[in-house]
Amino acid sequence: MRKSGRLARARAIVKEIEEKCETPIAKLQLVADDMMAEMHAGLADEGGSKLKMLITYVNNLPTGHEKGLFYALDLGGTNFRVIRVQLGGKEQGVVKQEAEEVSIPPHLMVGSSHVCETLELFDFIAKRLAKFIASESEEFKLPEGRQRELGFTFSFPVRQISLASGTLIKWTKGFSIEETVHSFHLFFINAHISLQVGEDVVAELNKAIERQGLDLHVTALVNDTVGTLAGGRYYDNDVHASVILGTGTNAAYVERADAIPKWHGLLPKSGEMVINMEWGNFVSSHLPLTEYDLSLDAESLNPGEQIFEKLISGMYLGEILRRVLLKLAKEASLFGDIVPPKLSIPFILRTPHMSSMHHDTSSDLRAVASKLKDVLEITNTTLKTRKMVVEICDIIIKRGARLSAAGMVGILKKQGRDSGEKQRFVIAVDGGLFEHYTLFRECLEGSLAEILGTEVASFVIITHANDGSGIGAALIAASNSQYSLVETS
Ligand code: GLC
Repeated sequence: MRKSGRLARARAIVKEIEEKCETPIAKLQLVADDMMAEMHAGLADEGGSKLKMLITYVNNLPTGHEKGLFYALDLGGTNFRVIRVQLGGKEQGVVKQEAEEVSIPPHLMVGSSHVCETLELFDFIAKRLAKFIASESEEFKLPEGRQRELGFTFSFPVRQISLASGTLIKWTKGFSIEETVHSFHLFFINAHISLQVGEDVVAELNKAIERQGLDLHVTALVNDTVGTLAGGRYYDNDVHASVILGTGTNAAYVERADAIPKWHGLLPKSGEMVINMEWGNFVSSHLPLTEYDLSLDAESLNPGEQIFEKLISGMYLGEILRRVLLKLAKEASLFGDIVPPKLSIPFILRTPHMSSMHHDTSSDLRAVASKLKDVLEITNTTLKTRKMVVEICDIIIKRGARLSAAGMVGILKKQGRDSGEKQRFVIAVDGGLFEHYTLFRECLEGSLAEILGTEVASFVIITHANDGSGIGAALIAASNSQYSLVETS
């Protein structure tokens, strides 16, 4: 192909993806409407919608009055964190907080689907927990007869039957236990936890803790969104929802217990129940899907599932970019006559790589050149080519950010808070994508204001709940503590 022909073909491909990814406000409104409708359907019946709308049994959010020493364990990816929090009640707040992050050795994560592998993972975690507790000073000694309590953040869909027990519904974010997918699996997640679907997450962990002879009990099992909500609420009473924008994406919010037809239990005293939406699995005919999304989904470990997540979250954005670049290399020889071999490796291009290319402000796009070289072994690119890469990053990121904003508007609509009630509605947000991808975050905030209009948007506040999910689990353990250390005033 002649040079000018190549460029014209490349432009045509980029133009097409740009058009397919368009998210005008009218479309975002339709997505938000569908989100609201699916929320209703998921609350009405178990299995009534792709949105699971999971009942979390969290009906007591922290008030700030909690007192005492609590622990949390945060497991959501290749690392886990152990956290200790000393709470001092309304006056003192969080008196002391210490955390230790541990990465899980690969041999524990790449296992077969045998139950013993699960125990190995939880044994490893329990051992680190024991070490963490053994090294603590005298000041953390608990009174005689008082057992340590721990909130466990587990960032996967779980069907709960109480605050402290629940079974894994399915793996998301590339986790799977099928033996056949191991090698592929390793490309992008480096992790494999062999907990089986249907197994009780807390029971497994409690057994491992007992085997370590630890005097500690798991008293709350929470999703990361729920932890983030609790962490946000501790500092601000107007936090009513939370969103995670990281490797995966999801949202939780506070619902009126009598607005949950599928809830047949007693109405909690607070009259409220936190719902883990599992919005990553949301799907709507209004979602702007492209051929790249369809092939990514078809070749994924969970085809047909987590469609919203596959358009938005950190695990997938870099992979979408790779797919577009591959097409440009194949059909428009964007990187020369030979298709760069690395470009054919799934998940080689990660969202942090994409972020550093997208945020490159140098006039010659040096960071783009260096990422293309370091990650994909593509050298000698022209400035025009590099500009095109940035343009594609922009298209993919804008779509993801704008769809996340539409999701948030869906929650506001469901709660009747999208039309000018002059009360703050704070959404606590956490996750690496939100925290580190500035252009994503700015676009999300801008789009929210665009959809809602500036007047309404001025009452909708997005806060970054830094590390909220871990401390939030400890706070939920505290507000539901059997030792009733919660202050009464
Ligand atoms: C995935 C999980 C969900 C979690 C989210 C963010 O969507 O299914 O439970 O909250 O990732 O970590």
